[in-house]
Amino acid sequence: MASIDSPTLYTTFRHCFPEVSSEKIALAFAPGRVNLIGEHTDYNGGWVLPAAMQLGIGAAVVYHESPTIFIRSAQFAETFQIDLQQPVFHSFSDWRIYPQAVVRQLLAQGHRLPGASIALHSDLPTGAGLSSSAAIEALLGFVLQPLVAWGFPERVSLAKLAQAAENQWVGMPCGIMDMFAISLAQPRQALLLDCHTLSFELVEAVPPPSLSWCVIHTGKPRRLVASKYAERRAECELALNWLQEHGAEATHLSACSLSDLEALAQAEPLLYQRAKHVVTENLRVKALCQAMQRQRWDKVGAYLTQSHLSLRDDYAVTGVELDTLFELSSRIEGCRGLRMTGAGFGGCALALVEQDKLTNFQTHLATSYQLSTGFDPVFMSLEIAGGVDWVLPPHTI
Ligand code: GLA
Repeated sequence: MASIDSPTLYTTFRHCFPEVSSEKIALAFAPGRVNLIGEHTDYNGGWVLPAAMQLGIGAAVVYHESPTIFIRSAQFAETFQIDLQQPVFHSFSDWRIYPQAVVRQLLAQGHRLPGASIALHSDLPTGAGLSSSAAIEALLGFVLQPLVAWGFPERVSLAKLAQAAENQWVGMPCGIMDMFAISLAQPRQALLLDCHTLSFELVEAVPPPSLSWCVIHTGKPRRLVASKYAERRAECELALNWLQEHGAEATHLSACSLSDLEALAQAEPLLYQRAKHVVTENLRVKALCQAMQRQRWDKVGAYLTQSHLSLRDDYAVTGVELDTLFELSSRIEGCRGLRMTGAGFGGCALALVEQDKLTNFQTHLATSYQLSTGFDPVFMSLEIAGGVDWVLPPHTI
């Protein structure tokens, strides 16, 4: 279901590397991810429910004997190049920070990497909360360890590799949700992942034909995500430490119950709010899953709404644009629920909308949102796709 087809990837390769023969080309695709619910629970050892989407990043790769990796992109002018025998690392502030992080992490883990010319083509908006960074990391981890058949253990290692690359070499202290979804997702299913144990179940997540998932980009580039994200993580750690010092036995915040938090409410009101979001959101993940499994889509919509309110009022990661989408959409007929998805602070929202009212919903929301914020929203459908994979595997290995 990859949105970038083979002819496009061939053309991208010829455009990026006119000097290299494309006779022995391999093609791969990594999707973006949309989190249905379970926001800011992954780094608290909780549940998440992400799915892979049809949009993503494709790679066209020709492996070669010389110990150099060249990466070019259809979207950006810069080339990333690294000599594997004498690697030199740079402090990039553009997209090249991600491939460099993956190469660096693979080398740090002792992998021998193949020389390769890699051309990238993306239709995934960047900075939109759809995990374009995790997609490029997982994609490069995938093509730089060119197994023809990627089994389950290799995919879990791939997710961990991509997270380590992001944490160590990009400096974003993210959890494992995005990489896990991109590495292990299956078409039509969401991954109900326990981030404490990494055990998961697949849950059918395609609504009936009368409803559809709709992804809405606020049009607002995300700002301060890394610093605010790190701040929330630190607040969660402080909350957990406080609870443990006052007798709680939980090893992670998601394992606490609301009654465990009562004393924290008096002593540290801000930390209480953060912890309350984490604990209630964690419960909502299971509740929303159950509602989907029982085809109770009215309840699914209600959990989306509750999640957004908790992220707005207790976790404070939404921001004016996402909250405006939330407010306006609740007044438009046919919207069953909407919540921000991803880290927040701008980026995208996910809505559940009645199919026969979808066009009307989008038209009204676009007009009123533009009037209120000055930004044009971008609407995307959500077709639930599979994880990173070969479109055309390498034939020489
Ligand atoms: C970002 C991070 C994830 C997760 C979400 C919030 O996408 O990369 O690990 O924490 O934010 O749920």
